[in-house]
Amino acid sequence: MSGAAVTLRLLPLGRTLPVAPGQTLLEAARAGGVALRSSCRNGTCRACIARLVEGRVHHRIEWPGLSADEKAEGWVLPCVALPDGDVVLLQPHAD
Ligand code: FES
Repeated sequence: MSGAAVTLRLLPLGRTLPVAPGQTLLEAARAGGVALRSSCRNGTCRACIARLVEGRVHHRIEWPGLSADEKAEGWVLPCVALPDGDVVLLQPHAD
């Protein structure tokens, strides 16, 4: 995956944005002019919770505020989620 630009596709908005290395999904959206719902930005308040439709992410903190069931269902916290390749995120609260 080295050198390949990673992209974030936001649904239902239908925007596709680049993600810079080390950028969280929330930061990438913001850099692309899309404001996703957020508050704490450190993975605890869950204001930003969104569902990963395609792709994989890892969270940059060890214990993001998600249950094991939520993680298994594809819920992620974009403020601390880093993409492992192209991802598609479902986040109804985006402007
Ligand atoms: S903004 Fe608080 S968990 Fe993401």
